[in-house]
Amino acid sequence: MKTILVTGGAGFIGSNFIRLILDSEPDYFVINLDKLTYAGNLGNLLGIEEKYPKRYVFVHGDICDEMILTKIFTDHDIDFIVNFAAESHVDRSILQPNLFIETNVLGSANLLNVAKTTWKERFDSKRFLQVSTDEVYGTLPEDNPEIKFTESTPIQPHSPYSASKASADLLAQAYFDTFGFPVLITRCSNNYGPYQFPEKLIPLMINNAVNDKQLPVYGDGKNIRDWLYVQDHCEAILAVLQSGKLGDVYNIGGNNEIKNIDIVTMILDYLGKPHSLIKYVTDRLGHDRRYAIDASKIKNELDWEPKFQFSEQIGTTIDWYLSNTEWMENVISGEYQKYYDLMYSGR
Ligand code: NAD
Ligand code: DAU
Repeated sequence: MKTILVTGGAGFIGSNFIRLILDSEPDYFVINLDKLTYAGNLGNLLGIEEKYPKRYVFVHGDICDEMILTKIFTDHDIDFIVNFAAESHVDRSILQPNLFIETNVLGSANLLNVAKTTWKERFDSKRFLQVSTDEVYGTLPEDNPEIKFTESTPIQPHSPYSASKASADLLAQAYFDTFGFPVLITRCSNNYGPYQFPEKLIPLMINNAVNDKQLPVYGDGKNIRDWLYVQDHCEAILAVLQSGKLGDVYNIGGNNEIKNIDIVTMILDYLGKPHSLIKYVTDRLGHDRRYAIDASKIKNELDWEPKFQFSEQIGTTIDWYLSNTEWMENVISGEYQKYYDLMYSGR
């Protein structure tokens, strides 16, 4: 049996990852450590404890809390760590940068330290995977489509979010170089799919369109993102965790660049809603223009490539939100309204 500590497992990608592990890796015992911030929701893992009572445990806690981490490491013989826990929304990082530094930088540093100490320098068969983002590379020109982010593209983050993620990457790399600590880093492009919090583009636009509310498109709507279905991302993380080369970075992407405005109109068309719901609003500060991942390293070394097509999965994703109205009502009932008003009213 392998014991895997998943941090941030009650969030969007973490919950999809836990489901994948429990369903596909019968020899893994999963510990999910999550602070349950506004983005963490045990409703994302409904039924998991009942389905896998012997292979899953939830611990409510913060990766910044050294005592909780030490207790988890004392109670369990942990083999693998996958660090998803993060403040993950760029817009919120513009409002509250310090929170991002606390969790994404100090929390990750704390996790590295506790793992290093309790593993007592015996790193054989241990693995620590830091889930990072393509945003650490900065932005790409839109008039030069053949240029993409590779693993050797210099780090040049622009938002407090991406700067905090880049800092964690550098710390993780430093632990590998200095201590031989068994680190792997993945840098993925934009994910979409079930259980994504509706502060992010796709679920926000679906929710607004369903409710005949305006769809706030930043700037000219021509910013480009490289979209990947969440299950593809989770499978890539598992491949890197099991077979990646220690100390290496692996880019993960969908080879699927789309302008924001095209996604928004696709959602409206799928739902049969008028384009007049689109409202162009003041741009995001420091808004990166284009992201695009060159994922040839992970394909060549680990034989991973995306299985899902955006043209099909966007429909599956919209249908998922339409069938899970209770989930949506739950997540937008609390802090979300305040956030939405702060971010969008009068914009
Ligand atoms: P999310 O915001 O949906 O989930 C984050 C989770 O982390 C939540 O469950 C939250 O409660 C938990 N958390 C936050 N602070 C914590 C702390 N201090 N201690 C313990 N738990 C804490 O985020 P997501 O979209 O699922 O992203 C997960 C990871 O993947 C992040 O590290 C993010 O940077 C990275 N990533 C996301 C995307 C994307 O498109 N969403 C793409 C590439 C990389
Ligand atoms: O690239 C990976 C990153 O993708 C992850 O590291 C982040 O955690 C994740 O949040 C995501 O960041 P983005 O900033 O690209 O995602 P977001 O969904 O916030 O925005 C996508 C694009 O849509 C971006 O160009 C901004 C635009 N946008 C977003 C919102 C919320 C709008 O035009 N209107 C909106 O209301």
